[in-house]
Amino acid sequence: MRINKFLAYSGVASRRAADELINDGVVKINGKVCSLGDDVDVSSDKVTVNGKPVNVVKKYDYYIMNKPKGYVCTVKDDKGRKTVMDLLPTNAKRLFPVGRLDYDTEGLLILTNDGELTYKLTHPKNEVPKTYLVKTEKPVSDEDLSKLRSGVYIDGVKTKKCNVRLVESYKDGAKLHVTISEGKNRQVRKMFEAVGNCVDFLKRIKIGDLTLTGLDRGEVRQLNAREIDYLLNL
Ligand code: URA
Repeated sequence: MRINKFLAYSGVASRRAADELINDGVVKINGKVCSLGDDVDVSSDKVTVNGKPVNVVKKYDYYIMNKPKGYVCTVKDDKGRKTVMDLLPTNAKRLFPVGRLDYDTEGLLILTNDGELTYKLTHPKNEVPKTYLVKTEKPVSDEDLSKLRSGVYIDGVKTKKCNVRLVESYKDGAKLHVTISEGKNRQVRKMFEAVGNCVDFLKRIKIGDLTLTGLDRGEVRQLNAREIDYLLNL
């Protein structure tokens, strides 16, 4: 098995984060620093990360959280801010958040130690749709709606076609549902900035068909078998 896949499988990190660990030179196979393309014989090779042995985790855990704003989506924050890990039950195993929601963004977040699922949900090639509730500072014109739908330039790259539904429009703002299948950094906020607007409130309300039903802000629960099966087969 390819080393990055093995690390993802073992619950050490997502596949992309595993690549970073490998590039950092902290991953060894049988005592030798490995590189990105190396393979592991799961039955005989000894893998370590920062000197600690890695074993394949047999059973994965899957949690869904309604992330409040004011929490960072990392396992540990350099600046000492609260992280989503602080909201997990104390008996939760070593998990990592699937993708990122900004500090100021709330809503649906999955946490797991299943690196393959993380890869599946976050890699742009898989185009898993994520839906956001957006409230803007200013009204959104029809022209802006069509620009947002067909793609706008953020950091010099055009966003893919996406679904934008105007839910409500008022004198000094608008409420919309935006469904994107890419995951560029701060994408939704930057898309609205690209049309001269500003996002006041942002909440992820869906990943695929998975919703936050029954989960209040800050609450977290384990996914049930049906939900896990749904995500694994997306
Ligand atoms: N888009 C953003 O701008 N922020 C998020 O947290 C998620 C998507």
